[in-house]
Amino acid sequence: MIQRPKGTRDLLPEETSKWQEVEKKIKKVLDSYNFKEIRLPVFEHTELFQRGVGETTDVVQKEMYTFNDKGGRSITLRPEGTAGAVRAYLENGMGSMPSPVKLWYNMGMYRYENVQKGRLREFHQIGVEVIGTGSYLADVDVILIGNQMFKALNIPNIKLTINSIGCPKCRAEYQKILKEFIGKNLDSYCDTCKTRFDKNPLRILDCKEKKCKQLNIGAPKMLDYLCEECKEHFENVKQMLDSCKIKYEIDSSIVRGLDYYTKTVFEFIDEKSGLTVLGGGRYDGLVEEFGGPKTPAVGFASGIERIMEMYNENNKEFEEVTPDIYILSNGIEENKLALEISEKLREKGFIVEKDICERSFNSQMKYANKIKAKKLLVIGEDELKSRKAKIKNMKTGEEKEIVLELDSIIENLNY
Ligand code: HAM
Repeated sequence: MIQRPKGTRDLLPEETSKWQEVEKKIKKVLDSYNFKEIRLPVFEHTELFQRGVGETTDVVQKEMYTFNDKGGRSITLRPEGTAGAVRAYLENGMGSMPSPVKLWYNMGMYRYENVQKGRLREFHQIGVEVIGTGSYLADVDVILIGNQMFKALNIPNIKLTINSIGCPKCRAEYQKILKEFIGKNLDSYCDTCKTRFDKNPLRILDCKEKKCKQLNIGAPKMLDYLCEECKEHFENVKQMLDSCKIKYEIDSSIVRGLDYYTKTVFEFIDEKSGLTVLGGGRYDGLVEEFGGPKTPAVGFASGIERIMEMYNENNKEFEEVTPDIYILSNGIEENKLALEISEKLREKGFIVEKDICERSFNSQMKYANKIKAKKLLVIGEDELKSRKAKIKNMKTGEEKEIVLELDSIIENLNY
């Protein structure tokens, strides 16, 4: 039997229903902040991610699903949504829309990762991007959205951590100082860190290797080297979060795995598993990097699979959607009437099941029970003739004789 590729998942109907419930709750939060949904291609030109996400990142170096299409173009399945959103913003002239442009997405992402708990090769992200404002107030807003999302999902035990990684100007200064610190022991760092030393030393702080973590202890902190503008920006973010009574920790080791970030970066971490459920930050240079005008932006993305883990742990009650009615019928004329009634009820918005297998009454009854139909209506020879039928409440067992007319059926579905 052919099996699904490693790192992918099948979502069976019961789980899909839970995802929909979660997506609905998140959408309500996003709507309340007046964000609008954007849908983007699953694949983009590889160069978009090389330039946007950054050549020295794990995502670009090791994790992209890249292939040449039949026309010889290098194509990559999107590993994240920000680069595509910014490309779409520029390509569709969204700069002329009322600014800032506030977008959200819910899309599948593809990364060739070492598969483990919470780390898949095909996963889904709900993300937001605010394009066109450099104000700290936008940083606070997106952090608040994250906070509201977890509140709406009844997910506690989430820690918010924030940091600032400065702007290219102050970061360049800091990188020099950091390189001096790392350079003293460079030979002892892992090979990946060594390759990052010249081009992207900040990422060395993010290395998960034990020996590198050890060597990084006591490293100079970006926060101590922020320029006046970046310092003020970060202070404002913190002050505003304080005034909203949002708890957070400052974690100078958050540098994020993607190169476009500037100033504020943040992560929401599941305190139980230690996994990052939501990550984001400001990316003031990305629009320009793609050839657009200077346009600051900020956003985040949250992994739905990781959200679902936490949601299921904290929300045991799940209201399963079951049919409002099962209409039993047998015989051509009876089936015609059952079909006519079913279609009319469906048009009115009821969930209706009827036989599509030409089963016996007995088997239909068993099936109606299994799928937890709320009501049962039998249309047999007698009912067809008399135009009267019994409707049964499957929960209470109560039966009622009704006229086989739409109004009468509907009246008895609603009690
Ligand atoms: P990211 O940190 O790479 O950021 O991913 C965001 C979230 O996606 C993670 O916090 C995690 O919940 C989930 N995630 C990432 N990789 C996997 C995986 N292999 N399996 C399951 N879940 C995963 C970004 O992608 C940025 N584009 C976020 C952003 C938007 N920044 C600004 N705007």
